[in-house]
Amino acid sequence: MEAELQALLEQAESGKDAIETRPQLADFKAGFVGPNGSLTAASRSIGKLPKEEKPAFGKKINLTKQALEAIFKAIEERLEAAELAAKLGPPIDPTLPHPDALPGTEHPLTQTRDRIIQIFRKIGFTVEEGPELETEFYCFDALNTPASHPARDMQDTYFLPEDFQLSGEKKREHESYILRPHTSAVQIRTMTKRKPPVRILSPGRCFRRDTVDATHSANFHQVEGLYVDSDVTVRDLKALLDYFVKELFGSDAKTRFRPSFFPFTEPSFEMDVQTSNLKKLSGKWIEIMGCGMVDPNVFGHVGYDPEEVSGYAFGMGIERITMILHGVDDIRHFYQNDLRFLQQFQST
Ligand code: PHE
Repeated sequence: MEAELQALLEQAESGKDAIETRPQLADFKAGFVGPNGSLTAASRSIGKLPKEEKPAFGKKINLTKQALEAIFKAIEERLEAAELAAKLGPPIDPTLPHPDALPGTEHPLTQTRDRIIQIFRKIGFTVEEGPELETEFYCFDALNTPASHPARDMQDTYFLPEDFQLSGEKKREHESYILRPHTSAVQIRTMTKRKPPVRILSPGRCFRRDTVDATHSANFHQVEGLYVDSDVTVRDLKALLDYFVKELFGSDAKTRFRPSFFPFTEPSFEMDVQTSNLKKLSGKWIEIMGCGMVDPNVFGHVGYDPEEVSGYAFGMGIERITMILHGVDDIRHFYQNDLRFLQQFQST
């Protein structure tokens, strides 16, 4: 009898791996525990045993039944897992990019900024950054534009209330924080920290109290540059900007300096460029930046000796350069996040 139970278990063990469907499993189970199953038959035979052997045999039957149930359960779990896998299809790697995703692209203003930086980097300029929330000192006073100076109007911006104070920052009495109207403030910050020679670019976001139209925005971006050393002349500035426009607009690009005024440079110029490479603007002189020789008063504010050092500075709007390069006719396109516009500037 016991041998019979043992044989029955062995049969279940050896047959279990062949079961591949639920009906097969049902038949398999029935073969052991169904009304005509072998275990059912064995348990019926208990009646024929002598009384004293019955409990021990009953126990064996139970153990065999438990072992069979475990085998059935394992088969069932295997079938379930196979059914689920069939539903899910081949294994997937959730870390792969979505096949339909659009490739991202850099914003046209970022592309222009990086192109400008790259051109100046080749000749030794490094990038300096500063805060967008600045003090009047860094934006105006140190740049030779005291309060009440009419030139402040050129860079009129947004003022925070006079009692606003950033923690950990020094601010003079009656001085206000402002949203920086140009990144020239970074030049002051750099010169107060460092001894000459200084050769830096300061790219970044700026703000002005402008009424928005096709060419004005209260929020815009600049790249400014500064070079301070001994014996720097206007000729050096002209040579630098000639190199820059040829790199940016093509080798036939020419520059023209027109006298202008900025409180922080003396003499000051507007620089125009002319090139045949710009379809609509071909052959025209187009103003692209302000520049000049650093005013000696600015050196006085940062602790440089104007007798010892000289330098030039220049500044341009990234929006304006991008509009000229790509024939964009309205500055507002840059801030509307319209994919039809942005997708025309896929970076390579
Ligand atoms: N800071 C000036 C502006 O924002 C540009 C400029 C920079 C002009 C350096 C001359 C020298 O308009």
